[in-house]
Amino acid sequence: MRHDDYLRPIPKTELHCHFVSTMTGARLIQLADRYGVALPTTDPDALFAYDDLADFLVAFRAATDVLRTSDDLAKVAYDGVRADVIGSGLRYREYYVNPQYFAPKGIGYRSLLDPIIDGLSAARDDLGVDFRIVVAINRQEPSAAALELVQTVLANPLDPVVGIGQDDLTPELTEDPGRFADAYALARRHGLHTTAHAGERPVDSPESVRVAMDELHVDRIDHGYRIVDDPQLTAQARDSGIHFATTPWSTTICSGWTIDPQHRIRRMIDAGLSVSFSSDDATFFRTSVGREFREALPLLGLGIEDARRIALAGIDGAFCDDDTKASLRARFTAEIMALDATIAAG
Ligand code: ADE
Ligand code: ZN
Repeated sequence: MRHDDYLRPIPKTELHCHFVSTMTGARLIQLADRYGVALPTTDPDALFAYDDLADFLVAFRAATDVLRTSDDLAKVAYDGVRADVIGSGLRYREYYVNPQYFAPKGIGYRSLLDPIIDGLSAARDDLGVDFRIVVAINRQEPSAAALELVQTVLANPLDPVVGIGQDDLTPELTEDPGRFADAYALARRHGLHTTAHAGERPVDSPESVRVAMDELHVDRIDHGYRIVDDPQLTAQARDSGIHFATTPWSTTICSGWTIDPQHRIRRMIDAGLSVSFSSDDATFFRTSVGREFREALPLLGLGIEDARRIALAGIDGAFCDDDTKASLRARFTAEIMALDATIAAG
């Protein structure tokens, strides 16, 4: 059996997916043309090549500017599901939506969230991919703005919006998750789930992961790779069962790492941490959750049994309610058993 025959259809969650990055390259170029947004180039080889995370984030922020209308947002939401359900076995996804990119352009919280939810709900009904939304605090902005954002989330309850996170980098190009402690405390007091991008790059630190875990009390960590440099923190994370939403391919660009059996994600798995795979920014890094399983997983020296564990760990780390988790587990188990039976039948 070719690994591909198993890794392509195996049912998958994707917990770490920035909404804007589900826009296809073709739509990005089309909308940029429509709205007169200057792109550095329309050659995909150059458009999607970055020196590092900070360089990528410049392009990512520019891309948010091409999403102007409800129709743009709903279409991107719907189309972003279609490719992955057919090509990648996607069954459930959590989207990071960062309203602070859109507010300065006159797109308020509900004007942003409502069409995204409409598009994703239509995709769920048509394609069977359930979803939740995590509102991302923009670390470019001050902590007071983060607190205001959480107040806005709480004042506008929307069923699919189940948590908050933090992404981008501070103006000093650091992570500094503790800067937003007040916003996290408020979110937690009101029962929102919490996550944070932490320990992503060589210049970031295990301390960043520790602050997210011990001071923000997050339910899961996005990336978290620097944790393996702190064995005590790694043991604490293993014992607490906290989940890590990792993104193998993006580390080749944002962190400068090669995907091989010495990679930090492999070391996290070997240390017994709960780890799932996501694309992070599919279009920009020319990946997908399917590619993470089909290509990154074998390069990490992992096999079919690991793929099953990683697929199911994605349900453990999800922010949906227990009933949804139970039905996802039943669906994944049945699909994996059917896949195993097909393979056994030769
Ligand atoms: N925004 C989109 N992708 C990101 C990443 N990998 N790290 C921080 N912020 C991001
Ligand atoms: Zn991310």
